[in-house]
Amino acid sequence: MAGLLESAGFVQGDEAEADIIVLNTCSIREKAEHKVHSAIGRFKALKVAKPELVTVVAGCVAQQEKTRLLKRSPEVDAVLGTHQIARLPQVVKEILEERRRSIHVELIHDVQSLHIPARTDQGRICSFVSIMQGCSNFCSYCVVPHTRGPEQSRPTEEIIAEAQALVSSGVREVTLLGQNVNSYGKDLAGDDSFVDLLTRLDAVRGLSRIRFTTSHPRDFGPDTADAVSRLAKVCEHVHLPVQSGSTRILAAMNRGYTREDYLGKIHDLRSKIPHVALTTDIIVGFPGETEEDFQETLSLLAEVRYDQIFSFKYSRRPQTEARNYTDQIPERVRKERLLAVHTLQDAITQDYARGMIGKKEEVLVEGFRSHTRQAFGRTRSNKIVNFAPTLETEAGMLLFVRITDALKHTFLGEVAD
Ligand code: 5AD
Ligand code: SF4
Repeated sequence: MAGLLESAGFVQGDEAEADIIVLNTCSIREKAEHKVHSAIGRFKALKVAKPELVTVVAGCVAQQEKTRLLKRSPEVDAVLGTHQIARLPQVVKEILEERRRSIHVELIHDVQSLHIPARTDQGRICSFVSIMQGCSNFCSYCVVPHTRGPEQSRPTEEIIAEAQALVSSGVREVTLLGQNVNSYGKDLAGDDSFVDLLTRLDAVRGLSRIRFTTSHPRDFGPDTADAVSRLAKVCEHVHLPVQSGSTRILAAMNRGYTREDYLGKIHDLRSKIPHVALTTDIIVGFPGETEEDFQETLSLLAEVRYDQIFSFKYSRRPQTEARNYTDQIPERVRKERLLAVHTLQDAITQDYARGMIGKKEEVLVEGFRSHTRQAFGRTRSNKIVNFAPTLETEAGMLLFVRITDALKHTFLGEVAD
């Protein structure tokens, strides 16, 4: 969105001096949605100080609330849904010229017109590339299929062309984005598949690294594990959200796999790529989750020993199936379970981090910290490392760094030969 507005001649500024404020929103959990409403609250005072200020609310909360948002919040000038981002410059222009409030929330079934290319301004080493939009999985807790529409894959040729353009502008690492990258291509007419896409991207000259997220355990097959192992540029890191360790809860979540299926995939990955970095997402307190079910989540964490996890209390979302389940878990229990997950995982993550000390890791240099003049970059396993640069160190280069210390979220290292 910033790129679109810059192309239309606008420049970035901060909240206090801006003539236009665009609030991009997330509705995955209730907490994110609350933040949106308090941010909108701040518009009121800003508009008193500057009545001509233009305010736009975009993204998933906009898509979910539609006209309700415009009715409830007179300080919002336009509501821009998840499929209408490309209209942002036009919408802003209309408000500036005609002072007309408007709402654009139609879902579009043409992924080409939906796509907004990644920015290619100079100086970026890493870039996201979306390979698909939407989601058709309907996990029973999740609002995404409702706010983002059905899964639509972009044609492979278009993705390759975008990656090449990014490389020409200096990008060395791309992260492929989709809600379920393993089902990439299934909705296309040809026989494009995710593994073919990875194979084609691996051959893009000038590109150093490829990452991807998010994988869905149901669709993550042995062919993807083989591709990660075989393809030189694909980093050995798989984010594989398990959500729960209990097969009974996984069924209620409509995830399409059992605990055993999941553990089988982890085993396959580790046998093919012994040092693969594994991360996951966990939901605690899903409706009907008993103490026994929860213990199965803890035992899965202890068994897999992920290097990092993202854990959440179940949050009731509009339009979802689980919203109507009668056996909701009290907040107090959800909080306790989240704390137990944190306690267990913190110890595992710390062990993992200590195990990194002394290792020689390939790092892609992303830039330099202005305050400490240290260089920074990430390992293939996606861990941030800060280190003293040598005279030759430049952004965009791959080099080997020996890990010397583990801090809470980052590592320290020194250039190794
Ligand atoms: N409550 C809690 N966590 C959720 N997530 C998605 N929907 C919900 C919800 N209703 C989590 C899942 C998903 C991550 C992006 O957000 O773990 O993988
Ligand atoms: Fe939500 Fe499930 Fe789709 Fe992920 S796969 S976005 S959790 S519905």
